[in-house]
Amino acid sequence: MSNASEPFELLDRTLILNGMDCAIRDGLSSLRIEPSLDSTNSAVQRLAPEEQHATAILAEHQASGRGRRGRNWHSPRGRNLYLSLGWRFEQALSTLGCLPLVVAISVAQALSRAGLTGHCIKWPNDVLINGRKLCGCLVEIQGDTQGPYHAVLGVGINVHMPASDKTSGIDQPWTDLNSHVPACSRNGLAALVLEELMTQLPLFSDQGFAVFRDAWEQMDGLSGKTVHIESGNRRFHGTVTGIDEHGALMLDTGVEVLKLHSGEVSIKID
Ligand code: BTN
Repeated sequence: MSNASEPFELLDRTLILNGMDCAIRDGLSSLRIEPSLDSTNSAVQRLAPEEQHATAILAEHQASGRGRRGRNWHSPRGRNLYLSLGWRFEQALSTLGCLPLVVAISVAQALSRAGLTGHCIKWPNDVLINGRKLCGCLVEIQGDTQGPYHAVLGVGINVHMPASDKTSGIDQPWTDLNSHVPACSRNGLAALVLEELMTQLPLFSDQGFAVFRDAWEQMDGLSGKTVHIESGNRRFHGTVTGIDEHGALMLDTGVEVLKLHSGEVSIKID
């Protein structure tokens, strides 16, 4: 983890835009940077649906950053990356079960391009290094049953996170990028994350998850592992055998193969 006295780099819209490939950058509807927000996901959701697509909002600080399963996302000022991108999907809702996995693959690839090695994805979309969480993603989807669906893809990456009384409340092992890639620029990283998302999301819309299978298998940090899973008030123990075509986690309990859907489970590796 980082040292609290290290200088920090403010987010800068021009630096982020200049760090992006021009053709990809032209696909952005807007890029906003705010000093403080409740949550960047909420800020995108407050826009009219037609304004959400390809709109990216970043904040230096989140007062009510949201994690999966109703958790808070610790969001100290000026230290990490809190980024949300709105995206519109015309496809069937059932195919969007793989979307959190596509977001995780995109972020993991952006982290590789930033110089990180040895990281993996813990289903559905945590990026870990040496068993410690570096990044979490929150995918929230709204829309009528017939579609289209408006997804907000929220990405939180610990970049320079000093330990504090607040981080001592984080209930899982965590790390930050600075501990693995010293002096990594938040603006450069934001540009890479946006580039990857804006490249992979159209591919997912056009070709589905099949084209991401290989990337998933290379980065999958759970397959073959023995795990304990909590889902509501139910607990399971077994070996992860992979994912199905809808992105559900397959768990072999020795009695049956269960399929668990993202968002609803907590997983501890044995
Ligand atoms: C998790 O691992 O529980 C998901 C964490 C997601 C955090 C990000 S930070 C940017 C965006 N805004 C939020 O309120 N949450 C996501």
